[in-house]
Amino acid sequence: TVIVLDFGGQYNQLIARRVRECNVYCEIYSYRTDLAKIKAKNPKGIIFTGGPNSAYLPDSPTIDPEIYNWGVPILGICYGSQLMMHMLGGKVCKAPEREYGKTLVDLNTDSPLFDTLPAQNVCWMSHNDYIEQAAPGFEIVAHTPNCPVAAAQDKARGLYAVQFHPEVLHTENGTKILRNFVYNVCRCAGDWKMDSFVENSVKALREKIGDGKVLCALSGGVDSSVCAAMLAKAIGKQLTCVFVDHGLLRKNEREQVCEVFGEGGQFDINFVCVDARDRFYKKLAGQDAPERKRKIIGEEFIRVFEDEAKKIGAVDFLAQGTIYPDVVESGLGGESATIKSHHNVGGLPDYVDFKEIVEPLRDLFKDEVRQAGRELGLPEYLVARQPFPGPGLAIRIIGDVTPEKVAIVQDADAIWREEIDKLPMAQRPSQYFAALTNMRSVGVMGDERTYDYAIALRAVTTTDFMTAEVTILPTETITTAANRIVNEVKNINRVMFDYTTKPPATIEFE
Ligand code: XMP
Repeated sequence: TVIVLDFGGQYNQLIARRVRECNVYCEIYSYRTDLAKIKAKNPKGIIFTGGPNSAYLPDSPTIDPEIYNWGVPILGICYGSQLMMHMLGGKVCKAPEREYGKTLVDLNTDSPLFDTLPAQNVCWMSHNDYIEQAAPGFEIVAHTPNCPVAAAQDKARGLYAVQFHPEVLHTENGTKILRNFVYNVCRCAGDWKMDSFVENSVKALREKIGDGKVLCALSGGVDSSVCAAMLAKAIGKQLTCVFVDHGLLRKNEREQVCEVFGEGGQFDINFVCVDARDRFYKKLAGQDAPERKRKIIGEEFIRVFEDEAKKIGAVDFLAQGTIYPDVVESGLGGESATIKSHHNVGGLPDYVDFKEIVEPLRDLFKDEVRQAGRELGLPEYLVARQPFPGPGLAIRIIGDVTPEKVAIVQDADAIWREEIDKLPMAQRPSQYFAALTNMRSVGVMGDERTYDYAIALRAVTTTDFMTAEVTILPTETITTAANRIVNEVKNINRVMFDYTTKPPATIEFE
């Protein structure tokens, strides 16, 4: 294990992901975590992350200095490198020239960190402060014209500091630098692999659950599907999955979920598919305010699930598809985002009779969840799915929701996805869907005047979904989809493409 100590930087989860890409297991903890607790994890290496503070100011995040005497190798990145230098007697101050962006760095390739790298390497810099003087005992192993200490090492003590960000893809050979640290310096074995993770998790779940009963709410999304598949493999019939069709799913989605998890599917579990379409449509009738619609769906979902849970009776465990970013973002793991509390963590539903929560995916990043899903034999259309919001198509239908409008948006959306899925993977947007505007306009079809709805097509590229760019698609993809939609979907006579970034627009329409 390698432990990432989080000092509030923006790329911290990326560091952990990169380390895991080297087949070394990695966890993130806040810099506030007790040293004793970190020692108890028995890590082979520690990485200090970047952060927004100045190491020399009195209230800045710091760490028990005992950590430097412990003998476990440490790599400090950006703020982490400055903190290390500052604490060990070097000089850190405001840089005369702020460095930001891709920067050519001169490296000493004798350093174990830079083994097999070129002598000049493009690195991603983002700092206001810099290390003016390395701490005693440290050797400078990289510099730039503006940065006398771009990297330093004290090999004897296993301490390494880099001013730039090896975890960011803009740094050429960045992963190689991290790989060098975990292999050459920390001597990690690199035997953490997804197949063994799945196997170990399945074993651990069996031990934890014993002959207990587990209830799992299955949405058909990646996380809940992989969670269910892992439990299915571990405990079979002791697992009951409840899938609610709220009538706001995408075209054929219910059939796909039932095919995989239902009777005759690949798992031997209890599977309940609840057809709650009418319940939701009735509650939503005439409601056109976005927040109200979301609230109605959320509440009705709980009620439907509650009714099913009552039929099933008491269970021992409730399964949740919480994943590692949820844990870190809710402040339980790292430092950066104590800002955001996640619905999957901490808030336990009070409507189900259960004793304990089980979260099989709690240690995994999203791409690792997908990988685990593949290991478990889930079909690609489930593990590679794009995000789909809980309130479903209701927030892709502007204004009030009717079954007819749902059918329209389902058909148009299916065509749009089909056309985009013809593109190679690398060209596909992060999220793409059709939405039904509440606008009707005049058109002509044959010799007839029409007065029908307009569909909006959306396609965005993003990594964090907090901001998003419009994906530039081949014109033919858009025109083909538009033609097909007006020809194949009734009640649509106009197709628009949404060219708005987020912000100011959101990805969804409501
Ligand atoms: P917005 O529309 O806020 O969406 O830009 C950002 C991302 O979050 C998804 N989203 C939701 N996911 N429940 C969810 O599980 C919701 O209520 C919800 N609202 C938005 C959206 O699809 C996008 O990926």
